[in-house]
Amino acid sequence: MPLDSHILAAIESQLSPDAVLSDPLDLKLYEYDGGVDKSIPDVVVFPRTTEDVVALVRLAQRHNLAIVGRGAGTGLSGGAIARAGGMIISFARMNRILEIDIENERAIVQPGVVNLDITLAVQPFGYFYAPDPSSQRACTIGGNVAENAGGPHTLAYGVTTNHVLGLEAVLPDGTVIQCGGKELDAPGYDLVGLLTGSEGTMALVTKIWVRLMRQPEAVKTMLAIYNSVAMAGDSVRALTARGITPVALEMLDGPMLRMVEAATHAGYPLDAAAVLLIEVEGLIEAVEEQAEAIAEVCKECGAREVRVAKSAAERELLWKGRKNAFGAIGRVSPTYYVQDGVVPRTQIAATLAAIDRIAKKYGIAISNVFHAGDGNMHPILPFDPRSPDGLENARKAGDEILEYCVSVGGSITGEHGVGMEKMELMSHLFPEATLDLIKKFKALFDPSCALNPGKVLPTGKGCLEIRQRPELVL
Ligand code: LAC
Ligand code: ZN
Repeated sequence: MPLDSHILAAIESQLSPDAVLSDPLDLKLYEYDGGVDKSIPDVVVFPRTTEDVVALVRLAQRHNLAIVGRGAGTGLSGGAIARAGGMIISFARMNRILEIDIENERAIVQPGVVNLDITLAVQPFGYFYAPDPSSQRACTIGGNVAENAGGPHTLAYGVTTNHVLGLEAVLPDGTVIQCGGKELDAPGYDLVGLLTGSEGTMALVTKIWVRLMRQPEAVKTMLAIYNSVAMAGDSVRALTARGITPVALEMLDGPMLRMVEAATHAGYPLDAAAVLLIEVEGLIEAVEEQAEAIAEVCKECGAREVRVAKSAAERELLWKGRKNAFGAIGRVSPTYYVQDGVVPRTQIAATLAAIDRIAKKYGIAISNVFHAGDGNMHPILPFDPRSPDGLENARKAGDEILEYCVSVGGSITGEHGVGMEKMELMSHLFPEATLDLIKKFKALFDPSCALNPGKVLPTGKGCLEIRQRPELVL
């Protein structure tokens, strides 16, 4: 819907015309994120300061526009899509690192800072920012906070919430709040924890206090190669049973590693049924010892070979293969649906078998690349967008995989968020009373349902009933 011209003029006078997009062709670029859902906003704005955000929020509220915060748009659950139309507030221009405090191992950043840029800025001092949802070259820290992003190093370092200590945020009535700060444990209720992972439904984060980690003395990256996925899955269980926690423990199945190898030439063996990419870090002696123990366990579980990267270049190549997996699939199928379910680590082999059964049932060539150490599965379901039921079929197969994950004691999402993709599945995971309590929290922050309507909470518990585009009723 074209925005009323006097509303547009008010927004343009607040920022500057080059900080406002309203042309339908421009808006089209903001109708999607990394997921499969689409909805076009009415206007996209680019604030530079917290004061700009306050003014924009007030304007949007005055004109009854829904408000959706957006980082780099790399999210995978429709979190940054304007499902009910309205105003997308892009944080792309709030991209400054405000303070680096090495002595206290902290940095203060704006939400639009690219994840990797924090690490690059502190690297000369021997530090890094730990959470990397595999998209660190593109994703921004504000989006990471909104989605409580995870990634390959979650196993040892935890997720975003374990690295965010303070937030400044704008509430939908324009109030600016600050919670937490440089201290590890702020007194009172943990509002930072509540807002981290709230997927843009409670407040717009405008400043973030992050913790910096010291670079380890040594790092070793290994590739364990298997002739069966079950053996690779079993290795994950056995490593845990031996009390070994690598910093990363990723699995690629045969179809996936072949696509990755064709695209990146990382040196993955084309005839393998699965590989585990394993990384350990710490003091030099400890790393040596751990690497030996890991190789032993993998071989006991049936690995035919365990390779150790001999140089930083070899390490990087192995990781390049893993981190570019999604680009590699794009060469085979430009459209695909990435799932994000969790199972207990002991269930990985059985879950891969279940995914295989579901793949056959729906006739979809599903491949897998995932965070095996966390039991965080990412089955990838290619579909043909020109086929009338291509996406629908992939969604059904995806839902069936998630039902399986929940049935073995897992969850509907590990790290991609609920967004608009999985809100109805929340009822499978949470009892009614819990959802009612979450709804009350949401209403406390956002009584008029202005912030990111139609996300996270299932119909009847959230804002979808109040703000919905008629053409988008799913
Ligand atoms: C990854 C993203 C898709 O693991 O979560 O690469
Ligand atoms: Zn992932």
